[in-house]
Amino acid sequence: MSALKEKLRVKIEEHRPRTVKLLKEHGDKVIGEVTVRQAIGGMRGVKNLVTDISYLDPFEGIRFRGHTIPETLKALPKPKGKEMPYVEGHVYLLLTGDFPTQTEVEEIEDEFKQRREVPLYVWDILRAMPRDTHPMTMFSAAILALQRESLFVQAYNKGISKFDMWEPMYEDSMNILAKLPVIAAYIYRMKYKSDTPIGPHPDLDFGGNFAYMMGVDTPYDDLMRLYFILHSDHESGNVSAHTTHLVASALSDAYYSLSAGMNGLAGPLHGLANQEVLRWIQALFAKLGGKVPSKEELEKFCWDTLNSGQVIPGYGHAVLRKTDPRYVAQREFCLKHLPDDELFKTVSLLYDVVPPILEKHGKAKNPWPNVDAHSGVIQWYYGVREYDFYTVMFGVGRAIGVLANIVWDRALGYPIERPKSLTTDMLEEEVGIK
Ligand SMILES: CC(C)(COP(=O)(O)OP(=O)(O)OC[C@H]1O[C@@H](n2cnc3c(N)ncnc32)[C@H](O)[C@@H]1OP(=O)(O)O)[C@@H](O)C(=O)NCCC(=O)NCCS
Repeated sequence: MSALKEKLRVKIEEHRPRTVKLLKEHGDKVIGEVTVRQAIGGMRGVKNLVTDISYLDPFEGIRFRGHTIPETLKALPKPKGKEMPYVEGHVYLLLTGDFPTQTEVEEIEDEFKQRREVPLYVWDILRAMPRDTHPMTMFSAAILALQRESLFVQAYNKGISKFDMWEPMYEDSMNILAKLPVIAAYIYRMKYKSDTPIGPHPDLDFGGNFAYMMGVDTPYDDLMRLYFILHSDHESGNVSAHTTHLVASALSDAYYSLSAGMNGLAGPLHGLANQEVLRWIQALFAKLGGKVPSKEELEKFCWDTLNSGQVIPGYGHAVLRKTDPRYVAQREFCLKHLPDDELFKTVSLLYDVVPPILEKHGKAKNPWPNVDAHSGVIQWYYGVREYDFYTVMFGVGRAIGVLANIVWDRALGYPIERPKSLTTDMLEEEVGIK
């Protein structure tokens, strides 16, 4: 058994009594209430999920296993001579709650190399799809196609005990994670680079290998290490995390669950927003004949967008009430590597222009930028300009968090999810309208 899996076993055994005690001794304690607004309005703020992988404070932003983004980036081991940490180390952190040593992280790097071969039928399936299929559809289909490999299903069919289910869930999750960068880069090169896929490099880590298979030079590898870590998890109520968790609660395996989560990520109000931002900014550039917009032109464009009933992409958030620290981390990367880039300058100018406009507009509860306001501009700079593809890279990162969550769901024996719905008549009776 790998050191990571052994460590996870110890952590799971330590954790289980806490969940059992909470349920047994405090199961009836009220921790929140639900209003009509929440029932109709997408369950905002209803406290009804439990995860220890990450926590999103509205003002502070995300903490991975209790650590802020700067703390996480500082404490995770880095490949020699690189600025950003091993993605493999972040996998270890999210699964176990501990920062790995250099040796532990290198073990996972090796493990991923052993698990990353993609069966040929996956390429056949992708090739059979029309080439103009959205890359998220291809990505989700590839994950779903791999479901025949599920070790969880094999174990379930043999009658595995509920207490042991986390083990095949872990194996499936690690097998998927190892393959995702290979699948994503294959889709990219097949679709956008004249069908010239590049195979994995035997010596490179998760992030480095992804950059290599994309065919983009350094420091794109460091950017992608950062990108995958930043996009990994945002507690468990967001659409991709919640969907993955919900589907897994039916004891569907990691392939079914992740593919479903990725379909949610593909929505324009969730992961697809990062491509929308770039599309939106470039529409303005095109309108101005390629000229960099002035502050006044940006302001007018924002108002035109709002007045036509559209949202300003990359701004606002369902939980956050300040600038997303994932935005800040990407901004810092830009300040170091592309301070003079025109698109970056426009993104920076938007940071000055949009919040006061959204405040004046008076609708959005959070006028500040989220992660998606920044992701596209850096990809564009490094030559990855096919913005349909951006959500796929978000998906590779997001898989790390949602898979860690469903391994723990099985470890703690979380039951099938089944909230209760009411009818409109019932609500009207409840509030005294009827
Ligand atoms: C992220 C988002 C979906 C959160 O939605 P939410 O929790 O419903 O946000 P709010 O409670 O602040 O929404 C209240 C109102 O403000 C509007 N609003 C929120 N963000 C807005 C934005 N960026 N531009 C314009 N209007 C916005 C909403 O559409 C809603 O309007 P409505 O009452 O007419 O339906 C929303 O802010 C949004 O659409 N942002 C742009 C897309 C984006 O960046 N998505 C990536 C998220 S990581």
